[in-house]
Amino acid sequence: MSRAAVLCGLGGALPERIVSNEELAAQLDTSDRWIRTRTGIGQRHVVAPGQSTSDLAVQAGAQALASARGTADRPDPGVGPVDLVVLATSTPDRPCPATAPDVAHRLGLGNVASFDVSAVCTGFVYALATAASMITAGVAGRALVIGADTFSTILDPADRTTRAIFGDGAGAVVLRAGEAGEPGALLGFDLGSDGSGADLITVRAGGSRQRSVPGPAAAGEEFFTMDGRPVFTRAVLDMSRSSQSLLERVGWSAAEVDKVVAHQANIRILNAVGEQLGLEEKQIVANLDRVGNTVAASIPLALRDAVAGGELQPGHRVLLTGFGGGLTWGSAALVWPELETGRPHR
Ligand code: UT7
Repeated sequence: MSRAAVLCGLGGALPERIVSNEELAAQLDTSDRWIRTRTGIGQRHVVAPGQSTSDLAVQAGAQALASARGTADRPDPGVGPVDLVVLATSTPDRPCPATAPDVAHRLGLGNVASFDVSAVCTGFVYALATAASMITAGVAGRALVIGADTFSTILDPADRTTRAIFGDGAGAVVLRAGEAGEPGALLGFDLGSDGSGADLITVRAGGSRQRSVPGPAAAGEEFFTMDGRPVFTRAVLDMSRSSQSLLERVGWSAAEVDKVVAHQANIRILNAVGEQLGLEEKQIVANLDRVGNTVAASIPLALRDAVAGGELQPGHRVLLTGFGGGLTWGSAALVWPELETGRPHR
């Protein structure tokens, strides 16, 4: 058997404060009806003043580590200390340094390798592929992979579209060295990007392009912006194509997949991807009604909710697929392992 990266822990965290559609409708020209019918979202969680991405990442990471320890009570040849932390985020605590070393430090993981990955909503799949590759290459033995974002901190308070969609959160998994063929072994990845679409999902100010020009940024350029319609079309196309190409490589038909856990951007996108792949509704995992689009946290939080709700079971064939700014997209496949998991949410 060849060496593989095996998923052995899962956790997630959401900030306490919930913003309902009704609360948004009291502040902006929108309605619960518009948000629900156009996106499928009913509420989202947002951080309190002073709370940051690393705070959520630490909570989710601690829960994933506890889950991995629970799983490790059973005989497990790959058990060892975490020696790698990969954090997917595009809302780091600070532009520099990366947020992952602080998260590793606060989790008491010692002087482990740690770094951030920036691929917006595809960040978790990119981080998973990076950590899994480092494990199979023998560079790491056990990795904590976190997706965490606090988009409420970069949204334009007056933008009804982005405020309706995005929420804050963190999700995490633990990967350990194991053998191909074990439940939980990552079976393959499909990753891609198209930088010609960089302006479709962006924060214009705060980077070297804007800061190389003397003087403050133009008004509003510090906020996140998204051109929703073309992004919608590309999200459907690229997640469908990426999923299809990974399924071919792994040798599964779409009908053989038990659960597709796609980036939770919009229920209409999930349904359209399902249609493209010929999936039935019961194959598609959706938790966006409760959390909105949590960016890099979206896929691991959906996994966690699906496990907690009993929808995702050991032995299920699982396809993960994401799409986001960059533009970027990516998919991963695995057979779901038996895991100890904590409570759903917080
Ligand atoms: O996570 C990374 C990837 N992101 C995504 O995948 C998001 C992809 N895009 C989408 O999910 C959708 O395009 C949105 C949810 C962002 C927008 O939905 P849409 O059905 O594409 O709406 P639209 O942008 O075409 O706008 C339709 C109308 C517009 O009004 P007019 O111009 O027709 O009068 C918007 O101004 O809906 C209006 N609108 C709203 N109305 C009430 C936009 N946002 C809102 C709102 N409440 N919150």
